[in-house]
Amino acid sequence: MAFDSFGDFLSRLEAAGELTRLSQPIATELEITEIANREMKKPGGGKALLIEKPTVNGQISSFPLAINTLGSFRRMAMSLGVNSIDEPAAELASLMKAKPPATFGQAIKLLGTALELRHAKPKLVRTGPCREVIHKFDPPPTRTETWPPAPNWREPSTLDPRPPTISALPIQKCWPLDAGRFLTLPCVVTKDPDTGERNVGLYRMQIYDERTTGMHWQLQKVGARHGRRYYESGTRMPVAVFLGGDPVFTFCATAPLPDGVDEFLLAGYLRKRSVELVKCETNDLEVPADADFVLEGYVDPKEPLREEGPFGDHTGYYSLPEPYPVFHLTAITHRKDAVYPATIVGPPPMEDFYIGSASVKLFLPILKMNFPELVDLALPAEGVFHNLVFASIKKTYPMQAFKLMHGLWGMGQMMFTKYVVVVDEDVDVHNTSEVLFRLCANTDPQRDIIFTRGPADVLDHATPALAAGTKMGIDATHKLPGEGQVRDWPPLIRMDEAISNKIDAFIKSLKS
Ligand SMILES: Cc1cc2nc3c(=O)[nH]c(=O)nc-3n(C[C@H](O)[C@H](O)[C@H](O)COP(=O)(O)O)c2cc1C
Repeated sequence: MAFDSFGDFLSRLEAAGELTRLSQPIATELEITEIANREMKKPGGGKALLIEKPTVNGQISSFPLAINTLGSFRRMAMSLGVNSIDEPAAELASLMKAKPPATFGQAIKLLGTALELRHAKPKLVRTGPCREVIHKFDPPPTRTETWPPAPNWREPSTLDPRPPTISALPIQKCWPLDAGRFLTLPCVVTKDPDTGERNVGLYRMQIYDERTTGMHWQLQKVGARHGRRYYESGTRMPVAVFLGGDPVFTFCATAPLPDGVDEFLLAGYLRKRSVELVKCETNDLEVPADADFVLEGYVDPKEPLREEGPFGDHTGYYSLPEPYPVFHLTAITHRKDAVYPATIVGPPPMEDFYIGSASVKLFLPILKMNFPELVDLALPAEGVFHNLVFASIKKTYPMQAFKLMHGLWGMGQMMFTKYVVVVDEDVDVHNTSEVLFRLCANTDPQRDIIFTRGPADVLDHATPALAAGTKMGIDATHKLPGEGQVRDWPPLIRMDEAISNKIDAFIKSLKS
């Protein structure tokens, strides 16, 4: 189901009892974090919060701020218009099964075809609500050989007389040692200059001043790969950023889609309606017509990188300052009734746990295509996304757990995983206590643990070098002959089912 706007989604959340309105002025400087953090720590993720009067330096902002809107399993499912993420996951699985791919490459191709089959291709429209108010800054960059002329350039329909500024937005300073204010849910649109393929990635943006921000696309992300091509050719890189609109966009921008698969295609598929896109005012990129805010601009490869951070990060620690590209604003456009979407990251669990879990569920069928032994996979909140993976397998031959670990470490953003624990198929990987029990019971450390080296999350402060580190895999499955010296493997203690049922009935009779 598609939402017409972020506001439409918020109304549905409110009607479902999933949203709390706060009508008192609350400071974007730390106070929103303190309130949202307490909410996110409630069992199940608490409620979404609509802060009607966020203040910026003591002044009430023109725009309300909504936070924790995807921060529970229910709200995450609602954002995709389903009762449970199991629904689209099962549908994707059956699409894949219709013509099983032999390789992961084929699986990705099939995913693309499957998405297109539903007529989910985005379509270009002339204008949309995100253009209701237009602030254009300097004239567009002078047209040189390195800056392609913008054929879409046209005079805006509504020019807002107020001075154009990003400081009108209720952008938070999240944690005490943050270097400043950060956009926390910006969807960043870029294109591969060689193929024209689009990417939408969610990368935070530090506000430097009214016209410039940081662009925190990390080394291994698709936006950064596009950026490197522009740095190699020395040409200005058009970038468009949008916030809000249908919440499915934010989810898709975080999803670990393979490079080359368009996030708007996935969004259209999930919401069962094509995404309507409008051309930017000052560059050639496209953004959703129903977005709440659009920030248009560019990254100039001739300009030195600038220090970004520190920022209180999803690792639970501050990420230290690192050099990143500078994003220059050429225009801001927005809906008249725009709501500013935000989140916070920090010590887990936070909203991003629910976003990440939805991705895992959705893409599990694709992983299973490559790893037929895989039964289930969980990224526990304590592992803040990538640090820790629990996988259960149906084990049929020796060393299969190690085969899976190596496979996962070689697959997309799974490369960031520091610890992989593999258990047998009867273990509920979403129950950390059960996994730890099996880990302790079923392992001989020397025999069942391997270390290897690989790329690491750039946010990981514990690796000896930035973006490079070691990984540990633990085989906590039952052991087979051929997996080192193995004695007879004892059965797990379980009660007879008949006795169990009899006692269930007995307890029930005591209550009645
Ligand atoms: C709340 C939140 C904030 C994020 N911030 C960043 C960030 O600042 N930089 C980054 O590279 N990835 C960040 N990510 C992760 C990316 O959005 C994610 O890896 C995504 O798949 C990247 O898309 P890409 O593969 O198209 O580059 C964030 C994710 C979430 C949920």
